[in-house]
Amino acid sequence: MGVMRIPGHEHQAPREVSLEEIRSVLGDCRLCELAQTRTNIVFGVGNPHARVMFVGEAPGRNEDLQGEPFVGRAGENLNAILSLAGLSRDEIYIANVLKCRPPGNRDPKADEVLACSPFLREQIRSIWPDVIVTLGNPATHFILKTEVGITRLRGRFHQTGHFTVMPTFHPAAALRNPAWQELLEADFRMLGDWLARHPAVKTPQAPAQASAPVARGEAEALPRVGE
Ligand code: URA
Repeated sequence: MGVMRIPGHEHQAPREVSLEEIRSVLGDCRLCELAQTRTNIVFGVGNPHARVMFVGEAPGRNEDLQGEPFVGRAGENLNAILSLAGLSRDEIYIANVLKCRPPGNRDPKADEVLACSPFLREQIRSIWPDVIVTLGNPATHFILKTEVGITRLRGRFHQTGHFTVMPTFHPAAALRNPAWQELLEADFRMLGDWLARHPAVKTPQAPAQASAPVARGEAEALPRVGE
């Protein structure tokens, strides 16, 4: 387990596989029952060399219709606060734990996360960001392999293998709770400070194989469900 089989690759190293290759393995995925009710698969969008990757829960109605993550009200909130971290939407990458919308926006089921998360894991390995921002509990639990709630985890950085992780409230939940919105914004400012204190190390990005040398073992530190 751990490393997905991608045609033409064996035990892929960080940044070795392109997002297009992962998307093509996903194909017209039928691995869980969400395939029966989705309109579109919502794979992810953004800069394939992003320094900061955002991980949400699952597509909502608008995302399902448009095939793109965070295009509804939660996305508007996210766009509005990105500048607090000194970021713009075109420099980040966004994906969800689930690539298909759960009917009625219900919580993801464990078997759906199990079926879908290998694709997220490969997206993370492909982008190999410095920082992963997890939005809400399901994304945070998947990345940090914990069941601790977001209110206790947010407000500080966590380290998992290569990745610095910043768990924070989901922008949709924050829209319903002004106190959470304030904390979400404080977290984004904290992220901006972190990025300013940790300038990007310039690495050649293309071709992918020419990127910074990273030990294969590090890639194995990526979160695995069911462990
Ligand atoms: N909520 C999410 O978690 N992801 C989306 O793409 C939209 C809303």
